[in-house]
Amino acid sequence: MIDTENVRCESCTAPEAPVIDASDEASRTWPKLDIAANPYKADFPLLTGHSDIAFLDSAATAQRPAVVLDAQRRFYETMNANPLRGLYSLSVEATEAIAKVRAQIATLIGAVDERGRAQASEIVFTRNTSESLNLVAKAFAPTVLEPGDEVAITIMEHHSNLIPWQQACRAAGATLVYLYPTKTGELTDEEIAAKIGPKTKIVAATQVSNVLGCRVPVEKLARAVHAQGGYLVVDAAQSVPHMPVDVRTLGADFLAFSAHKALGPMGVGVLWGHRALLEQAEPFLTGGEMIDSVTEQSAVWAPVPEKFEAGTQDAAGIFATGAALTYLTEQVGYDAVHAREQALVHYAMSRMVELPFIDILGSIYWDRHLGVISFNVRGIHPHDVASILDMQGVCIRAGHHCAQPLLAWMGCENLACCRASLAFYNDQADIDRFIDGLTTVWNTFH
Ligand code: ALA
Repeated sequence: MIDTENVRCESCTAPEAPVIDASDEASRTWPKLDIAANPYKADFPLLTGHSDIAFLDSAATAQRPAVVLDAQRRFYETMNANPLRGLYSLSVEATEAIAKVRAQIATLIGAVDERGRAQASEIVFTRNTSESLNLVAKAFAPTVLEPGDEVAITIMEHHSNLIPWQQACRAAGATLVYLYPTKTGELTDEEIAAKIGPKTKIVAATQVSNVLGCRVPVEKLARAVHAQGGYLVVDAAQSVPHMPVDVRTLGADFLAFSAHKALGPMGVGVLWGHRALLEQAEPFLTGGEMIDSVTEQSAVWAPVPEKFEAGTQDAAGIFATGAALTYLTEQVGYDAVHAREQALVHYAMSRMVELPFIDILGSIYWDRHLGVISFNVRGIHPHDVASILDMQGVCIRAGHHCAQPLLAWMGCENLACCRASLAFYNDQADIDRFIDGLTTVWNTFH
């Protein structure tokens, strides 16, 4: 029998705490959206083909609408050629397709000049957020880090925004410093002031925690690190799928995200960086496509962004990423995404606190969870919870969520917890299935 007291994370919600505190802030308006209706589900072939599942793992990877799958196929059927900035029309078409998506992404994330023109050369295509962040840590950081410097990250970082900095610090003789939030995921001004100082050269932070679902005040981190002459790297993997992201407003110097969490295909990542900083960085991978000229003993690099894009790009994936972002931001729209996800989170958390055996991690306030609700079922291992939920057709993630230092800091037994992550294409029936499944989990063990 597991000691139930020990499986509760230190940061878990006190059972008596309200999910909605009416006295807290008038601005916390109750979302009134009709989440029983689902105007989006029909756009997603996997969801319509599996009406017997509730997919609550969108923070790991999103489902894809048909327009994205069609775009991928259309690329191969109508313009497939290596995008070698080619000498024949198919290749030119493929090259132009990539260029168009590059400009689309630049505009989307506010990488524009003073006249609003997209700075497409500041968009580097990688395989995923991990590769983008590795690129910054391995190709840019060595150009600025010196022995004795500090790199500051939050304890909420995904391993992808943590291990590269461990390595960058080790290589440079720098020190990795952690910013710790309050137990509900708030990063206070005092903590920022205490941890970011004259030695800080780089701050790397997630914009939204993949475990707690809370926002990190990256704008404040930008101000603090810029005041020291340093740089801010933002992991936007969990924010771009849910909210507008503007690199200038954030004050970011680099920003990374993955297409597959934003309805696009797996295998396409984005890195944005200020052009001057990208130019300052060394190449990350070398080989085809990233050179200007090569002699027997040396090579001259292509200009950015090609300098960082060695080898053949996933052109079809990039083309489909354009379709995904158009669907997300124009067909659905961030306002609708946000309203619906908040209504779903509100409903889910309201139902979860009715279950006396559930402990929610992080904030007790539903509006501080950007689609992500991590929790534990008291005394039951998260892997058992996920397996039993799977038998009820409910897909959640259980484990360390690639954030072991966070789970260790929260005191999570077995370095594990459960996570339900929602997207606008979920509905009330998904949450009801999830809640029924949790009751089955509890009853199975009791
Ligand atoms: N980074 C993904 C997650 O949080 C895989 O689940």
